[in-house]
Amino acid sequence: MSEKKPLPRSILVTGAAGRLGHQVSDHLVQALRDGRISRLRLLDIEPTALSGPGVEVVQTSLAGREAAFAAAESMDAIVHLAGVSSENEWENLVPANLAAIAHLYDAAVVHGVDRVLFASSNHAIGFYPVTQRIDHTAPGLVDSRYGLTKLFGEELARLYATKTPVRGFCMRIGSCFPAATAARHMYTYQSFADFIRLVEVGLSADYRFEIVYGVSDVPDGYWDNSNAFRLGYQPADKPEDFVFGELEPTQYDFQGGSFATDPLPGVTPPPGRLRDSGR
Ligand SMILES: NC(=O)c1ccc[n+]([C@@H]2O[C@H](COP(=O)([O-])OP(=O)(O)OC[C@H]3O[C@@H](n4cnc5c(N)ncnc54)[C@H](O)[C@@H]3O)[C@@H](O)[C@H]2O)c1
Repeated sequence: MSEKKPLPRSILVTGAAGRLGHQVSDHLVQALRDGRISRLRLLDIEPTALSGPGVEVVQTSLAGREAAFAAAESMDAIVHLAGVSSENEWENLVPANLAAIAHLYDAAVVHGVDRVLFASSNHAIGFYPVTQRIDHTAPGLVDSRYGLTKLFGEELARLYATKTPVRGFCMRIGSCFPAATAARHMYTYQSFADFIRLVEVGLSADYRFEIVYGVSDVPDGYWDNSNAFRLGYQPADKPEDFVFGELEPTQYDFQGGSFATDPLPGVTPPPGRLRDSGR
C-alpha cells in the first residue's frame, strides 16, 4: 500500500464534517500524530467533530472568496470534498459546487498550493450506458445538474493544471458508503478504506492532471481504472468485504443509475411536453 509515501506537510480538507470528509480527516489526524504531516486544517460550513493538537478547525462557507483565500493560505495540498453531494436546485449548487471550487483554485494559485484533490463523481459520466466500459479519457457525459457541477470542477482542475503550477487529481467517486446496499453497487462501490488509499495516491504521486475512478475491487465494474493503478492505487476491498446482506435489486440502463432518469428538480414542463429522459 502507498500509505508510507511522503505526504505534503500542510493539508486542508474541505467538507471535513461530511461522510468522506470525516474519514479523510480522521486518517490525516493520525498522519499528524505520526509526524507524516505537520499541519492539518479542517473546514466545513457545519461543525466538524475532529480536533487535536496541530489541527485547525474552520467553520465557514467556501462560497465566499475571502473564506476560500484564508482557507488555502500556507497549505501545500487541498483535499476538496465540500459541496452539495446530490441533485439539487441551482440556488444551492451554484455557491457550494461552482463558486467554492472556483475561489479555492484561485486561492491555491495565489498561495502556492502544490495540488488539489477534487471529489468528482460518477455522475460526471452518468449517461454512459452500463454496457460500455470507459476509462479516464472518457469525456464528460453528465446525468444531472449535480454531475454538471462535477464536470465543471474537473475542467477547472484541467485548465489550472495547464496554466498554473497547481496539480489536479480528480476522483470520479462511485458509491462510497459504509457498505454496499444495492445491486448497482456491485459496479460502483468504493469502501472508505479504499477511498483513503486513493487519497493517499493523490497526495503523494507525481502527476500534473489526472482523472481516476473511486471504486473498490469490483469484478465487472463500469470503469477501466488502469490510470489509478498506474499511479499506485491498489484497492484492497472486494465484494465479500462490503456486501453484508440482501442487495436492493436495482437495474439501470445508465451508469449514473437513477440520477440519469430522475427529472430535473423544480422545473416541470407544461402538460404534453413531458419527455422520457432515456437517451
Ligand atoms: N459518498 C459518495 O458516494 C460520493 C460519490 C461521488 C462524489 N462524492 C463527492 O464527494 C464529496 C464528499 O461526499 P460525502 O458523501 O462526504 O458528502 P457529504 O454531503 O456528507 O459532505 C459534504 C460536506 O460539504 C459541506 N459543505 C457543503 N457546502 C459547503 C460550503 N459552501 N462550504 C463548506 N462546506 C460545505 C457539507 O456541510 C458536508 O459536510 C462531495 O463533494 C460529493 O459530491 C461522494
